[in-house]
Amino acid sequence: MERTISLPREGIFAAVTDGDTRLKFLRDGQWVSYDGDRTIAIHSPVDGSLVGLVPALSTETIDEVFQRAHEAQKGWAEAGLEERVACLYRAADLMERHADTLVDLLGWEIAKNRKDAREEATRSAQYLRFTAEEGRRMHGEMMRGDAFAPFARNKVALTFRVPLGVVLAIPPFNYPVNLAVSKIAPGLICGNSVVLKPPTQGSVSGIYLTAIFQEAGFPPGVMQVVTGRGSEIGDYLTTHPLVNMITFTGSSTIGWRLGKVTGMVPMLMELGGKDAAIVLNDADMELAAKEIVSGAFAYSGQRCTAMKRVLVTDDAAWLLLKHIVPKVEKLSVGNPEDDAFVTPMISQEAAEFVQELIDDALAKGAKLLVGNRREKNLLWPTVIDEVTADMRLAWEEQFGPVLPIIRVKDAAEAVRLANQSEYGLQSAIFTRNIDAALGIAHQLEVGSVQINGKSARGPDHFPFIGVKASGMGAQGVRYSIEAMTRVKAIVFNLHEWQGFSGL
Ligand code: NAP
Ligand code: G3P
Repeated sequence: MERTISLPREGIFAAVTDGDTRLKFLRDGQWVSYDGDRTIAIHSPVDGSLVGLVPALSTETIDEVFQRAHEAQKGWAEAGLEERVACLYRAADLMERHADTLVDLLGWEIAKNRKDAREEATRSAQYLRFTAEEGRRMHGEMMRGDAFAPFARNKVALTFRVPLGVVLAIPPFNYPVNLAVSKIAPGLICGNSVVLKPPTQGSVSGIYLTAIFQEAGFPPGVMQVVTGRGSEIGDYLTTHPLVNMITFTGSSTIGWRLGKVTGMVPMLMELGGKDAAIVLNDADMELAAKEIVSGAFAYSGQRCTAMKRVLVTDDAAWLLLKHIVPKVEKLSVGNPEDDAFVTPMISQEAAEFVQELIDDALAKGAKLLVGNRREKNLLWPTVIDEVTADMRLAWEEQFGPVLPIIRVKDAAEAVRLANQSEYGLQSAIFTRNIDAALGIAHQLEVGSVQINGKSARGPDHFPFIGVKASGMGAQGVRYSIEAMTRVKAIVFNLHEWQGFSGL
């Protein structure tokens, strides 16, 4: 018989489930048993246990959710900033208080180890507080007309940032809590209502996260959740006439689709990556290896910012690999509840895809240094040397625990290969030469360059940008708030007024 996980049902989560496994639907601020007939069974990638049955919402129910979000938004925008700040602070406190529950859910549902899952919860609480504070600090401008033309001396403009309306937030499976919060918090602080569409594998966590927002006192309709498969309801959601802004994190394939189907709705998109670590001959190899290994293999490489290729000269490769290989051999492999560093991948299909890339590289002459062992969707950390441009592993996003080493003749070739990728999320440069670092950083076609550190999104108030197939727009607390608001100007035409003195 199928093993079933007992979902948490205490305290603020008492109303979220209907029995042990069926998740409810949030209708107008109340958790109700979903009356539709379709549910989606969420199984654990660790051992196949049933985590929960989530509602597959009908289009009629989705219409209802967006209508409610549309109606609730105006009142929320008119609520004082202090009320919005207080709600975000309460959500942060609740997130910390219920971190253990989130840690369990993330382990069961997406096989994230306990350490990383806890960090996801605490980072999200911090995100909520920082967003509340950033909301207090955001302000418009006063502009004088005569700065442009002497005849406009009597004109003064005041600019405000106003909410866009209903924000649709779509996070991916790898951070179902944090990449939801990093969309919900900036959306809410400036007076939007938010509809969360969690990833299907991650939707149980998304529903529990919504319960935390409910408990924090956001008015009904201001923060809601819709569940269902993206392949079935994605187009309906993203083309819905009541959606005023979309913030999406996920694969470039779905990103392109959104770009095609959505028309003129403002969008923020953070997509796939193939982040390169460029290791120059003078680098501190111990430091570079430490950063590359944790960057490549944390959460089994299922991070957009994972180090997905290393570009290094023949002269330096032996020393770098001398540091990398023993570190990879020491990584623990196993289950999330035992806090293994490398845990089962999200699905059997995802593991098979990574296996295909490994097999293709080895068949074409690449050299296996460590790994290439697999039990179902658990893949041991793998390092493959002498990967060349004719191999898929050189270009395709693996999103799994395999690190290709690509030999280059010099820094110029490293830059050329780095830029040849369709992706442009981040890159890392390891060197002791600051001039070389700056010179290369300026040539790289990516959103951010890390000097002597692995690629990473955080700290979360830093700008996080994808270019080329890696995205559109900038995230990061202030940047996200800016993207979820628009500028509105009120111009005073002062006919009796003599204008400013000074600047
Ligand atoms: P995905 O398959 O693109 O799914 C992302 C989200 O989009 C999920 O919530 C998914 O729902 C939804 N979705 C699927 N089809 C849709 C459609 N037609 N319209 C609207 N939404 C749709 O990505 P993933 O497998 O979850 O995540 C892995 C990918 O995300 C990798 O490529 C990774 O690099 C990228 N990623 C990028 C960043 C970044 O910040 N740059 C961060 C994390 C991940 P369902 O689950 O129901 O299909
Ligand atoms: O894959 C999610 C992406 O946003 C990476 O975040 O914090 O692991 O660098 P992080």
